[in-house]
Amino acid sequence: MRIAMIGAGYVGLTTSACLAELGHTVRCHDADHERIKALSRGDMPIYEPGLAEMVGRRRATGALRFSDSVEETVADAEIVILAVGTPSHEDGRIDISQVEEAARLIAPHLASGAVVVVKSTVSVGTARRIREVIAERRGSLDFTVASNPEFLREGSALTDFMEPDRIVIGADDRHSALALEEVYKPLTDRGAPCLTTATANAELIKHAANAFLALKIGFINDVANLCEKVGADVLEVSRGIGLDNRIGNAFLSAGPGYGGSCFPKDTRAFASTARANGAPQPLVESLITRNEERKLELARRIAAAAKVHGPRICVLGAAFKKNTDDVRQSPAMAIIGELVRSGLDVGVYDPKAGANGEAACPGADWFASPYEAATERDIVVVATEWDAFADLDLPRLASIMRSKCIFDLRNIIDQTEAEAAGFQYRGLGRPWRDHANVADTVAKDVDFKLHAASAKS
Ligand code: UGA
Repeated sequence: MRIAMIGAGYVGLTTSACLAELGHTVRCHDADHERIKALSRGDMPIYEPGLAEMVGRRRATGALRFSDSVEETVADAEIVILAVGTPSHEDGRIDISQVEEAARLIAPHLASGAVVVVKSTVSVGTARRIREVIAERRGSLDFTVASNPEFLREGSALTDFMEPDRIVIGADDRHSALALEEVYKPLTDRGAPCLTTATANAELIKHAANAFLALKIGFINDVANLCEKVGADVLEVSRGIGLDNRIGNAFLSAGPGYGGSCFPKDTRAFASTARANGAPQPLVESLITRNEERKLELARRIAAAAKVHGPRICVLGAAFKKNTDDVRQSPAMAIIGELVRSGLDVGVYDPKAGANGEAACPGADWFASPYEAATERDIVVVATEWDAFADLDLPRLASIMRSKCIFDLRNIIDQTEAEAAGFQYRGLGRPWRDHANVADTVAKDVDFKLHAASAKS
């Protein structure tokens, strides 16, 4: 099919490449001319495993093209997908002005019978609103509007697209439903489940799914806190509950809180839409607060340990999770920021996100390898679960550090190996074998003014 993509950001670009890979002809437009120029040269604006190769392959066959002309992109398209930014308002509500603006831009160029698809993550009711926006400009045009939320995780977006758990098509008319089912036929033919439903349902599915996954994470993080108090091991507890098929083991890894451009924003948007519609979501509201508190609690623990071990901290990881260079709403960045603000000397290394991290937090020192970052430091904090950090040469690390303490906020380092190398090991929700509970005994005496605490007063 002939598909136009408006927006060459993370979602627009990966979706364009994957649709071209499925055999469609895709024209992709972005208002940022520099971005289009770079993409037309083959330069990638983001890091996503496999994406550069896929884009290169499909550009070479002509199946995927980038254009800075809306008219050229949209003119003969059967499907026009809107994948533009949806920032948040102060109160958490989604700001759909860019989606509305994109709808205004494409309206004059839409072909008769075109299906306009909202892919940006939006609150319920947006497809209906976009229908109005286009009708205001092209009242006599035969067009439809559908919703088609994405479920792509950064770092594994291509696999998530090609082997989806499900495809959700939101369509309030038969024409849109059939057109989108045709788009995804190569995947449904291979057995991918597809739910075709009303646009309002599709819009809610996206937000509710992200909120539910975030709740799983928030739950296991609170369980990890309990494990620490009672000497239990959250890895075992998580495995044990996840073996129940009704629960499942995904998204039950304790960590420094969820981050990224989706969960923090989507949980707030879901809660605020629910409030506005008179159906508040107290579970999600409390999750949002707990997730913010968690990053500060962990920073407080590390600062407390610094009173004992020394003030030179090495943080490994800045990205909000592994396999991405994205530091937006990254718990690692929040912790780095708190440690810097509390006057500690912080050195950071991240395999991909160093440049983005440094731009956001120049107060830390940024290094090109984990060992450089750890040299002459007192505490190592593993803040992002990059595979390379699980494979660190721990004896080497111990030999270059001044004091030897590891805070493993992702539970990826082998505790026995770390202890054998002479480290005091602190996992999350894991038993502390040496029983020197630094966080509990020292935190009380620490004059550590957390950013949040001062902000509140
Ligand atoms: C998330 C969803 O997983 C995708 O399905 C969705 O399409 C996407 O948002 C979106 O709305 O566009 P993403 O933000 O890329 O994808 O990242 P996730 O892999 O979901 O991780 C989110 C955060 O949760 C990360 O900070 C991660 O470290 C954390 N996490 C995840 C945990 O702390 N524990 C876990 O067990 C899993």
